[in-house]
Amino acid sequence: MSEQKRGMHGIWGGRWTFILAATGSAVGLGNLWKFPYITGENGGGAFVLVYLACILLAGIPVMLAEVLLGRKERMSPINTMAAMTDETGAPKFFRGIGWMGALSGFFILSFYSVIAGWALLYVGKIASGAFTGIDADGSGAAFGAMLADPVGLTIWHTVFMVLTGAVIARGVNKGLEATLNVLMPILFVLMLILFGYSLTTPGFMQGFHFLFDFDFSKLSTESIVVALGHSFFTLSLGMGAIMAYGAYMPSKQSLGKTILWVGLLDTLVALVAGMIIFAIVFSNGLEPSSGPGLMFISLPIAFGSMPGGVFFGTVFFILVSIAAWSSAISIAEPAVAWAVEKGGSRIVSTVAIFAVAWFIGLGSVLSFNDWAGYQAFVFISEMDLVSGVEEKVHTAFHLFANVNLLQAEYVNTAAVSYHIEGKTFFDSLDFLTSNIMLPLGGLLIAIFVGWFMSSDMIKQEMKMKNEAMFTIWRFVLRYISPVAIALIFINSSGLLKY
Ligand code: PFF
Ligand code: NA
Repeated sequence: MSEQKRGMHGIWGGRWTFILAATGSAVGLGNLWKFPYITGENGGGAFVLVYLACILLAGIPVMLAEVLLGRKERMSPINTMAAMTDETGAPKFFRGIGWMGALSGFFILSFYSVIAGWALLYVGKIASGAFTGIDADGSGAAFGAMLADPVGLTIWHTVFMVLTGAVIARGVNKGLEATLNVLMPILFVLMLILFGYSLTTPGFMQGFHFLFDFDFSKLSTESIVVALGHSFFTLSLGMGAIMAYGAYMPSKQSLGKTILWVGLLDTLVALVAGMIIFAIVFSNGLEPSSGPGLMFISLPIAFGSMPGGVFFGTVFFILVSIAAWSSAISIAEPAVAWAVEKGGSRIVSTVAIFAVAWFIGLGSVLSFNDWAGYQAFVFISEMDLVSGVEEKVHTAFHLFANVNLLQAEYVNTAAVSYHIEGKTFFDSLDFLTSNIMLPLGGLLIAIFVGWFMSSDMIKQEMKMKNEAMFTIWRFVLRYISPVAIALIFINSSGLLKY
């Protein structure tokens, strides 16, 4: 029965297609938008160092494991994990890797599309010259105005979903392959041009130091969880996206080097994006910690003043959109592939899955305007200011609350100050997927491949020639990755704050 499913979605045509597709999946909003802003929010250098350690000790080993599983079974992650648990005799709950991954996919696709919609909207804004000569305040105001308009956000969210669905519906070879061959090289060239520009700005070195000088006193437990979660998000791991792409990889290709390339390129793009954005941030007196708006506020200032800025800016946001688009395809692929294996046509499966993700995305659209006040995991901390020493008196917690009402209830005075912090629908989905579901998926994959697949079984699929590399990888996957992920989880089990 599963024999008919194996390989039914097609195989990548070229030798390099897997690298291109996997890099297309990995390089996306995670690198250009998310990495810079979470680095800003988490204080810079020390966070970057922890992130790099997570990539090396957990991300790359797990990526190799995922691709291995996919290529061995040549089916969607859900069916791949079902077949693999049977073949290895591992406990049935490892099948949950596939199911949890599909669920993560719906959640991630839903908010990813909303942010990609911002990029699409910015293509038109920059092209129209709206940012020419703009300063930091003007750019911040334009961003705020965009967020305040749920209808506009929904339109662009819809456009992005339709674009992504259209490619998925056409399948692995016709949909993805041709486009990516052209687009990915252009992305790299444009990044280089912008990098060159950032070198000429007065804030470049300050940005560089912010990214690469580490001060561990700034590092909280939460930052470490965020760094771990992001290392999975940025490499598209823990939910089956890379497993699905591995299922389309030609059998002859050796896995080790291929995976290293993808990890290296993704990391490089993130670091270069960080250098570009922080150079501009510091040159214009912006706050590195300004959150999700960082890229959308800082870059238009640069494009507004550099020669040819309208052209480069337009192309840049087209490329952000393309990077997001090639990633979004891979986010949806596991669920669509599963539905097709169930007997659905590719088109009907795509429409059904995208309709659900689109609908969930409306919650993220509203998070930035009408629902901004409705938050989950709300912490209220009270500071005693009387003694002159700021002393935390107590914290209260609400699972869900209307923070606007709370703010009216807890009024700051000369004697006490209240700090109210919660997560909107968008923040909650982002938190749940990146910081919990993806690392948990990665942990289970590491344990599964490390402990339940025999060394012979792995070697047969892997065709790795370098014995030493194999031994190191397997050791890291068995001991280091799971222990590191588990430790980070345990440490953060007061999960949100203390
Ligand atoms: N890796 C993508 C990025 O950095 O933007 C996001 C992503 C793609 C996450 C695919 C998860 C995934 F399965
Ligand atoms: Na990425």
